[in-house]
Amino acid sequence: MIIPATPDNIAVVAERLRTGQLVAFPTETVYGLGGDATDSEAVARIFAAKNRPNFNPLIVHVPDLEIAAQLGNFTKIARKIAEAFWPGPLSIVVKRQGGCSVSLLASAGLDTLALRVPAHDTAQAILRDTGRPIAAPSANASGKISPTTATHVQDSIGDVVELIVDAGACSVGLESTVIDCTSEIPIILRPGGITAEQIENLVGRVKTDEMDSNKPRSPGMLKSHYAPDAELRLNATSVDCDEALLAFGQQDISGAVIGKNLSAAGNLEEAAANLFSMLRELDGQAERIAVRPIPELGLGRAINDRLKRAAA
Ligand code: TXA
Ligand code: MG
Repeated sequence: MIIPATPDNIAVVAERLRTGQLVAFPTETVYGLGGDATDSEAVARIFAAKNRPNFNPLIVHVPDLEIAAQLGNFTKIARKIAEAFWPGPLSIVVKRQGGCSVSLLASAGLDTLALRVPAHDTAQAILRDTGRPIAAPSANASGKISPTTATHVQDSIGDVVELIVDAGACSVGLESTVIDCTSEIPIILRPGGITAEQIENLVGRVKTDEMDSNKPRSPGMLKSHYAPDAELRLNATSVDCDEALLAFGQQDISGAVIGKNLSAAGNLEEAAANLFSMLRELDGQAERIAVRPIPELGLGRAINDRLKRAAA
């Protein structure tokens, strides 16, 4: 349902977000599909709603730099860029702070975080009212064009998102620039609302992502993606007494050094929400982690994709 961005509606939206539900809302770049970034199940629901084939990390939205700096570690240059271009169409990749409350699933298990302070009044009001960091990819089905009106959202994913907050067309209409500030010279990972020239004028040289300047780099697909120290044994139908076990569905988790169940109920959204944190918990407890088969459908494909990368 499309609803106008009135103060009453924004209060309803904030309450929904606080209880783990998803809401589509406008930013000045594109409409986003938002969920509480600290709630792994809400984040898993975002991947499911978009039918995203893999856990490409999400941008986390906050109302100001002060709150952003509680979640991520802003180097001098990151802070300079943030101060110049926030609020605005720019996402800054920084290291996660120790004890950062954002779900590991939102950042696809990486130790970095893409943070954005949007300028749009409605987005600002929702972020302030909710009081939580909000993970929000563009509010379209995976692989489709980003939505710049509430109707686009309705047409693309209207069947899976209950509320779409309407504040007219987005002023930027192109996704935010993503800039990685974790190394000495910032790297533009995705060109967007703020140009390379604008950033260069401020901080001197920046690099552009050499791999493919047209296509956003998806760190989830790179080797640097989180891989456990332990060896993973996938599709395990038995478990050895010196192995840790990662189970799924109605399975016995005894017989292993330590066992965790991604979802005893066999729910793939719950499993996706648990994946990165459980892998981290099991890592270091044994030299090998046996992983039970996960069905190759829906979010299961994304889970298996990540497991294969972690096992490689
Ligand atoms: O304008 C926008 O950025 C919109 C609005 C809703 O804010 N959001 C958006 O999100 O376009 P999405 O999920 O479609 O794109 C996120 C981009 C991807 O290219 C992803 O690889 C990158 O940000 N990204 C997210 N977290 C990252 C991280 N920790 N390191 C590097 N890149 C990251
Ligand atoms: Mg997108």
